[in-house]
Amino acid sequence: MSNPYWSPCIRDLEPYVPGEQPRRRDLVKLNTNENPYSPSPRVLAAVRAAADESLRLYPPPEADEFKAAIAAYHGIETGQVFVGNGSDEVLAHVFYALLNHGRPVLFPDITYSFYPVYCRLYGIPWREVPLTSAYCVEVADYQGANGGIVLANPNAPTGSALAARSD
Ligand SMILES: Cc1ncc(COP(=O)(O)O)c(C=O)c1O
Repeated sequence: MSNPYWSPCIRDLEPYVPGEQPRRRDLVKLNTNENPYSPSPRVLAAVRAAADESLRLYPPPEADEFKAAIAAYHGIETGQVFVGNGSDEVLAHVFYALLNHGRPVLFPDITYSFYPVYCRLYGIPWREVPLTSAYCVEVADYQGANGGIVLANPNAPTGSALAARSD
């Protein structure tokens, strides 16, 4: 029986199903972007140093210092940086705020399986564009898109990447 407390838009939603989650702890799950290497000692020290009594307070609401550091590292403007709690939250804002206009969003078939979940949640039409037989994205297949294109680069879980272009 469905839960009567669910909002109607959630009741019929097909949930996101995470990739296979083996219970063995000695495996690195490439399908969920796990890293075979531990964080550097400097990262661990910085995380530990930040975990002090100041956690009782909200962090700076605009994350200005954090965004400035990211922008400086990548050589871009601070205004081009958007931060959130993990990329799934950022993706939720992107789908809702930028792609929710009634025109179909294009993304590859196969790609990150959360994209159709967000489309269903927000009522966004979408079209899946097949990968090539080598599991690569063919850029020409996306020409004519007028509702946005979502590409994970490298693609997940295939791992194939498109080179950056400056023209
Ligand atoms: C392409 C892609 N985007 C986003 C995510 C979610 O990342 P996060 O853990 O930062 O929310 C994943 C996780 O596997 C992913 O493969």
